[in-house]
Amino acid sequence: MAEFRHTPVLLNEAMGMLKVMPGRIYVDGTVGGGGFSKEILRRSAPSGFLIGIDRDEDAVKNVQIELEKEFDKERFRLFYSNFSKIDSIIKESGFKDIDGIVLDLGMSSIQLEGGRGFGFREEGELDMRMDKEERLTAYEVVNNYPEKTLADIIWKYGDERHARKIAKKIAESRKNKRIETPAELSAIIKKAVFKGYGKLRIDPSTKTFMALRIFVNKEYDSLMEFLGKLENVLNTGGIVAIISFHSGEDRIVKNFFKNKLGFKSLSKKPVLPSIEELRSNPRSRSAKLRALCHV
Ligand SMILES: C[S@@+](CC[C@H](N)C(=O)[O-])C[C@H]1O[C@@H](n2cnc3c(N)ncnc32)[C@H](O)[C@@H]1O
Repeated sequence: MAEFRHTPVLLNEAMGMLKVMPGRIYVDGTVGGGGFSKEILRRSAPSGFLIGIDRDEDAVKNVQIELEKEFDKERFRLFYSNFSKIDSIIKESGFKDIDGIVLDLGMSSIQLEGGRGFGFREEGELDMRMDKEERLTAYEVVNNYPEKTLADIIWKYGDERHARKIAKKIAESRKNKRIETPAELSAIIKKAVFKGYGKLRIDPSTKTFMALRIFVNKEYDSLMEFLGKLENVLNTGGIVAIISFHSGEDRIVKNFFKNKLGFKSLSKKPVLPSIEELRSNPRSRSAKLRALCHV
């Protein structure tokens, strides 16, 4: 199991929005390294209950061990599952509805650094699955999808304006040799967009890798399915707090709640990380928190 750490983003802000307190029932839909789950259990002690969900089995196993060190086992239950199944998970936990839910979207540093194909420099398999039970891998998409489909994926999920050039270069390269590793893919992307990215500080692979990860893990589908179930799982007065890391994700959350009856936004604009957090944790730079109350 990986031993990397994940530093939670917007933790205090999300906890403040959720108004975590004893006696309430909470869901952490993206357990990851357990940062949010631990904080919920601390703030809701001695009687609050936590349902934790992650589609990454290693994350669930690791956090189960971590939580048992600090908290009474009776106060939480973790599920290796997708947060899109929140309704059946709550039922299985024996509850009808709950008081607060947090989603901290995307991938964790543990996944990024864990040799599972998410990192640009990796020499291992081009995988990118959060859930190893799923079939589709980045290898399959990069090596077998038609050039046009590949360009559409990179454009749609990565907001990458060089999507066509990148897809063309990938299609050319794979004729000679299959693209086996993230490092190989990253080198191909660099060749395709070298000039366009010359002056920018982000790695030319950033957007393409993000697009592939979102596509492989069907991240938008899970998020939309989850949002559609909220009214049925949240108590009246219950709060949902969602942290997103890129515009496509944030757009889905924002549009879902726009003029939606039954939900009231807890802040006019999304909450952003403080300057101190931006300095101490660069991963927080694109984070946005939106929180809504079920009225
Ligand atoms: C940014 S990390 C969460 C970090 C966590 N808040 C912490 O403090 O350590 C995102 C986690 O969400 C999980 N995840 C992403 N999409 C998911 C989904 N649809 N269902 C369940 N877990 C998901 C990932 O596997 C990853 O472990």
